[in-house]
Amino acid sequence: MTERSNANAVHTAAQARAFTAWQDYIQKHSPQPVQYDSKLEHLAAVTLGSGTGTVAQFGVDAGLSLRMLSACRPRQQVMGFDAWHLKGPGLPDRWTGNFDHSRSFTWTQEAHREMALSMPDNVRLVPGLFEQQQIRDVMGTSPASVIHIDCDTGPATSTVLEAIRPNLVVGTMIVFDEYANYPGWREHEHGAWTKFAGQNSVQYQYWGICHMDVSVRITSIGRNA
Ligand SMILES: C[S@@+](CC[C@H](N)C(=O)[O-])C[C@H]1O[C@@H](n2cnc3c(N)ncnc32)[C@H](O)[C@@H]1O
Repeated sequence: MTERSNANAVHTAAQARAFTAWQDYIQKHSPQPVQYDSKLEHLAAVTLGSGTGTVAQFGVDAGLSLRMLSACRPRQQVMGFDAWHLKGPGLPDRWTGNFDHSRSFTWTQEAHREMALSMPDNVRLVPGLFEQQQIRDVMGTSPASVIHIDCDTGPATSTVLEAIRPNLVVGTMIVFDEYANYPGWREHEHGAWTKFAGQNSVQYQYWGICHMDVSVRITSIGRNA
């Protein structure tokens, strides 16, 4: 066995275990979520089907899915938070999921400027490493309709969830992009969400699933949240 074929075999075995664990989990917690063919179809269905309120994405990169959010909500501002060039290469926190992200999501100031200029008029980009006070200042206290969390790692997801706690209400939809179905999925967005929900008395239903992405609908929320 070569180093490459060994790496492939290890990954295939780990992925198979993750798939089984995730299927067992979702069957137990939500026997019949809506199944989508693609993550963009899933995100669009959630956004078009949700009520009025703030729409924000955490983890934008080049903005593929943010552009779709903006097209789904042409008459309101849609916000996108990301560090872009205001960080080093890769993700700010260690990713232990499906493949190496240590050189991904690397931006120069110039590349970010060009990307920002190409965004639709109803998009507001908020550059910077996620920081609770900055997120709260931008988000205010308006109820959230759709929150798209696509920052991959547990620490970043926890920072975002704590910051947007005042915006979460019954009916808020949260779409997590790397929630499950990969090796180590319990450590990242899933782990951050279940911990946050437990600490803040948030009840929720799994609403839709695709490959690794999951949407949840908040059904009740503790008074302090
Ligand atoms: C998977 S990409 C987002 C993909 C994007 N939503 C799309 O549709 O293509 C993850 C992004 O999260 C951002 N990110 C992760 N952790 C962050 C943090 N702590 N602060 C700011 N941005 C962060 C990264 O900079 C990266 O651009």
